Amino acid sequence: MDQRISVKTFYIETFGCQMNAHDSEKVVGTLIGQGYTQVATPDEAELVFYNTCSIRDKAEQKVFHRLQQFKRGAKGKKIAVLGCVAQQEGEKIFEKAPNVSMVCGSASYNKLPELLVQLETGNRRVTGLSLDTDLTFETPLTRRDNPHRAYITIIEGCDKSCSYCVVPFTRGPERSRTGASVIAEATDIARAGYTEIQLLGQNVNSYRDPSPAAWDFAKLLDEVGRVDGIRRVRFTTSHPRDFVKEIIDAIDANPALCDHVHLPVQSGSSRVLEGMRRQYTRAQYMERIAWMRAAQRPIAISTDIIVGFPGETEADFEETLALLDEVGYDSIFSFKYSPRPNTWALALADQISEEEKTRRLAIVQERQREIQIRQNAGYLGRVEECLVEGFNRATGQWMGRTSQNKPLNFLRRSADQDLSGRYVHARVTRAGPNSLVGECVN
Ligand code: 5AD
Ligand code: SF4
Repeated sequence: MDQRISVKTFYIETFGCQMNAHDSEKVVGTLIGQGYTQVATPDEAELVFYNTCSIRDKAEQKVFHRLQQFKRGAKGKKIAVLGCVAQQEGEKIFEKAPNVSMVCGSASYNKLPELLVQLETGNRRVTGLSLDTDLTFETPLTRRDNPHRAYITIIEGCDKSCSYCVVPFTRGPERSRTGASVIAEATDIARAGYTEIQLLGQNVNSYRDPSPAAWDFAKLLDEVGRVDGIRRVRFTTSHPRDFVKEIIDAIDANPALCDHVHLPVQSGSSRVLEGMRRQYTRAQYMERIAWMRAAQRPIAISTDIIVGFPGETEADFEETLALLDEVGYDSIFSFKYSPRPNTWALALADQISEEEKTRRLAIVQERQREIQIRQNAGYLGRVEECLVEGFNRATGQWMGRTSQNKPLNFLRRSADQDLSGRYVHARVTRAGPNSLVGECVN
C-alpha cells in the first residue's frame, strides 16, 4: 500500500547571520520547487523548519525553546531543524526533541529534495549531516525576501580555526563558486530590478574561483560592480588575515563598490588575538585600517568585538578600548565570549565570570556610543546619496541608507510619491549615535 503522507505546507523561521537568512531564501525556493506552499504561521503548517544558529549559547537555546513549544498538541506536524545547530548536534536532536523529523546542516542542502521524498514516503527521521562535500548550494529558485538588497553567496564554509568559533564545525570546509556563476546570478538579479547586491561568505576574502579563470576576491568584486544595472555592491564578512590591499584598490577604482568595510577585529590585544588563533597582530590589523584611511573615498569601517575571552586581563581589555578610539569605527557588534562545543577555547583555563563579561560589554558599548556620536556629527550639512528602503509611518520619514551603510531618514514635502527602491540625495540636518536625519534635496 502507498504510505505517502502528503506534507505540503511549510513554515520557516530563521535565526543567525545573513548567510543563514539567504540560505533560507534558497531553501524556500527549493521547497516551492518541490510543490510545497509557504504559510505565515507554524500553526498552519504541516512541516515547520527552523534554520538555526549556534554561534553563542543564547542563539542555540532559542531553538530548543521553540522545539519545546511543540512538545504537545502538534499532532501530524513535522519539524525540521536546519543550519548550524543541526550540524553541531546531529542525531542528538532526535533525543532532545523527539518530535523532530529532519536534521540537516547547510553543507547538505543540495540533498533537501531527496530528504523531503524520504519524509513523504514515511521515514520518521531523516538526516543530512555530512560535511564531506565540495559542492555549494546553488539554485535558480531562490525566493528573495528583501526587495532592495539581493544576497549572493560566493563562498561557503570556513578553513580558519579561530579558537572560539563553531563555524568550521557547522559549515564545513571552504567551497567557492565559479566567478561565472556569480556573475550570471548578479546579471539575473539586475534584470529582476535589483540595484544593490551583497556578496556573502564566512570569509569572503579567501574566495578563489575554482574555474580556470581563477579570480580572487578583488577581481570578483570589481566584476560584480560592472554588471549592468548594479549600483551598489557590499560584502561580508572579511577576515583581516586575508584582507589584501587589492580590495581597497578595487573600491577606489569602481564607484559601485560601497564605501564600507566590515572587518572584525575581535580584540585589541595581540596576546588575546593569539589565544583566539586569529593569525594577525594588532599592528597588522592597524595596517589594514591604514589602507582604508588612505583610500580616495572615505570608507566607513565596522567591526565585531568579543569581550571576556578566557585570560583577558584588564590591560588586554584596555587595549580593546584604545583600539576603538584609534580606529573610530562607524559601528560595532559586540559580544560576551560564549564557550562553544568542539572549540579549542573551551578547554582554556581562566574563564572570565559572567558578571565581569557583562561589565566589560557595557563599557565597550558606552565607549562606542560616544565615538559614533562624534563620528556622525561630522556628517551634519553634508549631502549624501541614499537608497530608499521604505517609509516609516510612525515618524513620517523615508528610510534610506548611504553607501557607507548609515541609516539616513528624511522628510519629503510631497509624500505622494513612493520613493522605495529609488536613489535620492539628502542633506544631513541631525545626527544621532545610530542614524542620521536629513532633508531630501532632489
Ligand atoms: N562567543 C562570542 N562571540 C562569538 N562570535 C563568534 N563566536 C563567538 C563566541 N564563541 C562573534 C564574533 C564573530 C561574530 C559573528 O560573532 O565576533 O565575528
Ligand atoms: Fe550562526 Fe555562525 Fe551559523 Fe551564521 S554561520 S548561523 S552566525 S553559527
